[in-house]
Amino acid sequence: MNISKPFKRQPAITPPTIRDQIASLANRLAEHAQQEDPEKVLQRIEDRHTIRDRAEFLKRALERHTSILRSEIIANNKTPRRELQDRTMAILAAVDDGDYAAIKDYGLDMDHAWIRDILSSSIQNKLPAELSIYTASPTSQLDLRTGELHLNPSALQPQGRVGVKLGLLFKELNKVVHNMRLNIVVNDYWESASHRELTSQERQQYILALSGSLEQQGIIGDEDRNGLDFNMFRESDQLIKLDTLLMARLRKSQSGKLSLDTNGNVYFKPSHDLLEVMEGISPARRREFAGLGILIKDSEGSPTAAALDAASYTDALNNYLMHLVCTDIRHKEEQEATFVLLRATNIIKRERHHKIYFDSEKLSPELVTYAVGKLMQQEVDKLLRSAELYDDWGAFDNQEYAERNYGVMLPEDRKIIRSAVRSLQQLGIQPGSLQRVADVGSGPNLYPAMIASPYVAEGATLDLLEFSPNRTYLADVIAGTIDADKAALWRKYEKLMIEFGGDLYEGCENEAKRKSKVQFGDIFSLPEAEYDLITSYFVAESVVDSEMPFREAIHSLARALKADGMMLVAHVVGSEGYHAGVGTHFPAVNLSVEQIKKAYHDANLEVTGVVFSDHPDGEKFREGYDGIVLVIAHPRLRGNS
Ligand SMILES: C[S@@+](CC[C@H](N)C(=O)[O-])C[C@H]1O[C@@H](n2cnc3c(N)ncnc32)[C@H](O)[C@@H]1O
Repeated sequence: MNISKPFKRQPAITPPTIRDQIASLANRLAEHAQQEDPEKVLQRIEDRHTIRDRAEFLKRALERHTSILRSEIIANNKTPRRELQDRTMAILAAVDDGDYAAIKDYGLDMDHAWIRDILSSSIQNKLPAELSIYTASPTSQLDLRTGELHLNPSALQPQGRVGVKLGLLFKELNKVVHNMRLNIVVNDYWESASHRELTSQERQQYILALSGSLEQQGIIGDEDRNGLDFNMFRESDQLIKLDTLLMARLRKSQSGKLSLDTNGNVYFKPSHDLLEVMEGISPARRREFAGLGILIKDSEGSPTAAALDAASYTDALNNYLMHLVCTDIRHKEEQEATFVLLRATNIIKRERHHKIYFDSEKLSPELVTYAVGKLMQQEVDKLLRSAELYDDWGAFDNQEYAERNYGVMLPEDRKIIRSAVRSLQQLGIQPGSLQRVADVGSGPNLYPAMIASPYVAEGATLDLLEFSPNRTYLADVIAGTIDADKAALWRKYEKLMIEFGGDLYEGCENEAKRKSKVQFGDIFSLPEAEYDLITSYFVAESVVDSEMPFREAIHSLARALKADGMMLVAHVVGSEGYHAGVGTHFPAVNLSVEQIKKAYHDANLEVTGVVFSDHPDGEKFREGYDGIVLVIAHPRLRGNS
């Protein structure tokens, strides 16, 4: 997308320090923020710069690491088989183009949404991320004849080797963001070749040999502390957690039942409702789970790997982590079972559990790690580019924008207004009952406040939250300090609202002005669990130019809602940016309705309505977009998360 910046800062003779720049920006914003304490504004902007710095460092670490891996891959690409060489080069090209669909065809299955969620959490220093890698099972290293264990790094199975490489990447990134940890899942319980449990002596031997090997490969450093910098999860330790914590939760689960078959096998049968909301599980697996259930323990009391894995999440700390599980595609079915158990017991929320499946027979450890690192780097890049654009709102011409967009009512807006008015009525909210209501990123649009105004309680305020100097337009409209004929444009919106919503909307323009207060507000940093109703029109997608910060904005709106709150949010679909005044171009991210819905779902919101509206005759009044969409959503209830 071609984004020309609205204005550029003049180069100073003595380059100002970052702090000077922040201070001057803070003063500029504080001036417009009226009641806002400049110190607070400064703090908020400093935070943003820290975030930018962290993103910048992360990007450099990713660049360093991926360029080393790329050289290794090219140097090793010497197989005499020409088609294999070409394939490696084609994979590199697909990764460099960020082509997730092609990468999946090559044997690396990952959802790019997690990359954004984990990166934005790390950069903003919110939830720490934990990468779980699975080591080789002892089978290949236990000499069954002598009972001795032989372990050397090259004996690691492919899955273990990918884990080591990814672990090293993660370690490198952690040096920058200090909020990532490696979880090394050690299969020391079951020896599959001889079909027996390992003895405790064998277990000890295995763990010692494995730790030595991981140290040798740099995964565990001299300074690293178990539990802090990394976590060594021994499957044998999970048995007790399975018998106590996990079983207790499964027994109490509202989303399924424990049962014992006639042979003495213990199963968990997930409910139909739970299976309905589980994504990415094949129909055959669903039928199996719904029929027989998920095997927890066999008739001899031996636990399944999926059950042991689920038990390893029962520590309370896991609620505060973003989990990234990295396994060979051959373990996908086992992972699906684990994940259903985790959801049934409400241990891990859906949006905090992500997976990378790789085909270790088709992809070398270097290729998998290169792909993961490179795709992360591309997402950080996008984040940085959007962050660049955040400060340029001073060039936004309110008057021009308001007259062009709202002077003549567009059919798209008409439909969206009708849906918003009717939705609020259908929700059965009592007029005058809401204490905390906000319109986020109001800019020069009064109609969202007019739609909400009848529901705002007497004495309560409707917060019109705006990040930029655009605040002045609505502040002037409310104070009556704008030309009367220019302010008159909102009258026709009142008429329309009465047409759709009846007497309730009689006088809503004045009601909105009386109850509203324009204030400084940032869609990325809203107070938590504060509002009964949030509206936000054309903001989340229209203040950034990539999907990651858009999704972050939706998360932020979701967090700002009370548990029983509601949101009505409008987005431009397929936007290529827009202008507000001559020679300006403002950023926007080009999204489909599906991408928008997914962002709401991933932010733990239940979407109850999606109304798409485009210009009836295909003509587009605003430049470069496909239509607009109104999303009606509320926080998803616990248990459905
Ligand atoms: C496309 S305009 C939409 C304005 C208005 N809501 C409408 O319906 O026309 C985007 C608005 O978001 C504001 N904005 C930019 N960054 C923001 C942020 N971080 N938080 C809240 N608002 C922001 C801009 O100043 C601008 O007023």
